[in-house]
Amino acid sequence: MSMKRRDFLLTTTLAAGAAPWVGQAGLLSGSRQNMCGYAAPKLGKIRVGIIGLGNRGKGAVKRLGMIRDVEIVALCDLREEMVEKSQTILAKAGRRKAKSFFGTQDAWMKLVEMDLDLIYIVTPWRWHTPMAVYAMKNGKHAATEVPAAVTIDEAWELVETSEKTGKHCMMLENCCYDFFELQTFNMVRQGVFGELTHAEGAYIHALCGLIANENGYYQDQWRFKQNNGKSGNLYPTHGLGPVAQCMDINRGNRFKHLVSMSSQEAAFTEWAKEKGRDKYADLENYRGDMNTTMIKCARGETIMVQHDVSTPRPYSRIHLIQGTKGMARKWPKQRIALDHKWQSDEQMKELKAKYEHPLSRTMGDIARKVGGHGGMDFIMDYRLIYCLKNGLPLDQDVYDAAAWSSIFPLSVKSTAKDSQSVEVPDFTRGAWRVNMPWGVVDVDPSKLRVVEI
Ligand SMILES: NC(=O)c1ccc[n+]([C@@H]2O[C@H](COP(=O)([O-])OP(=O)(O)OC[C@H]3O[C@@H](n4cnc5c(N)ncnc54)[C@H](O)[C@@H]3O)[C@@H](O)[C@H]2O)c1
Repeated sequence: MSMKRRDFLLTTTLAAGAAPWVGQAGLLSGSRQNMCGYAAPKLGKIRVGIIGLGNRGKGAVKRLGMIRDVEIVALCDLREEMVEKSQTILAKAGRRKAKSFFGTQDAWMKLVEMDLDLIYIVTPWRWHTPMAVYAMKNGKHAATEVPAAVTIDEAWELVETSEKTGKHCMMLENCCYDFFELQTFNMVRQGVFGELTHAEGAYIHALCGLIANENGYYQDQWRFKQNNGKSGNLYPTHGLGPVAQCMDINRGNRFKHLVSMSSQEAAFTEWAKEKGRDKYADLENYRGDMNTTMIKCARGETIMVQHDVSTPRPYSRIHLIQGTKGMARKWPKQRIALDHKWQSDEQMKELKAKYEHPLSRTMGDIARKVGGHGGMDFIMDYRLIYCLKNGLPLDQDVYDAAAWSSIFPLSVKSTAKDSQSVEVPDFTRGAWRVNMPWGVVDVDPSKLRVVEI
């Protein structure tokens, strides 16, 4: 949005009293803090406790261990062997042994009660909100894997707790830090695509074998249990996060309502029959293969989000952004069009040289070496710690966590009601009208050093 239009909106909104709870210095009504743009006091060393050390959690231990001012003070998992594996990662990185917690469903509470700055949560979905809420109530910032919440009540609980405690709650949406996503965000900010009208995102990933794995790939088959019984978009945030940032969601714009529908279930059943996994071939309520959700935004744009983890087809998050002057699309091949033809490979290189996001320009080489989905995971972690250390607002706040995650339960609701329109709650309670858009951020590597790679 042009600044002129934004100033107009801000003035008229305040004049009309449409957001009366927005007070001075980011305070909402009572003593609640508006967490959008909120900067917590600077930290020296960032003392971290990590909960959930399975497939994804181990990677977090490795990545956070690469950042000098991070001290991984405590580790927790239900399973002792997972804690031990992560202790080995720390030892190999020359890091001090962390305090171990394991063995019971609530051993993590003792970790949260320690003297820590940040609780980093990488458990199955049902634990994300309870752990993040307990962390904030115990005076810690919370960073949680996706989705941050699986019900609307949970999403509100995150918002209310963050506002009352003044503690950050960031959802670790790593896809916002992937290279092409960052570049297209920068291009949106420079006005290359004109006024945005539509976007598409997805999580399309053939996961039947892992979802039906009974040897603990997903501990206690938690992912199968989530997929068996609900139909909708259970994993919306990877596709949605990057386009929501382009569209200023919660910062000048918001999701208003959605409609959602799922195809019949067929691919998981067929996979199970072909593999002789009879137990999975006859499920009555397994999630429909392809879910398509359409979201209408307050400013007028539409967003399509898809979800399919059953069909044998190539991975895609789509990542399509279009506006009055052109479009970008990441899958199946990175492409940009500024008229009716795709830009040539040579023009694509020129656009990258001109519009590469400062964050990937500064951190890209190091991030690629550290790894984690090609580097985006490290850019995310580095930027999170950088903001905490230097007292900066986080790139993703609790309203983003709540709104992006809410598409999970809302799409299930709409799908169950023959695709009826469902309102998306305004988790900012009106403050989206005055919250400032996210900028094109960068980091100064001398202010947060990494270990030798
Ligand atoms: N952002 C990404 O790219 C990405 C990629 C993969 C997974 N994820 C997310 O990461 C999370 C974990 O996924 P995963 O693949 O590592 O699953 P996983 O099953 O391998 O790991 C989860 C771990 O949490 C532990 N756990 C379960 N309940 C616990 C409790 N009460 N206390 C302590 N530990 C507990 C389990 O023992 C297990 O080791 C999920 O939320 C998933 O959606 C994100």
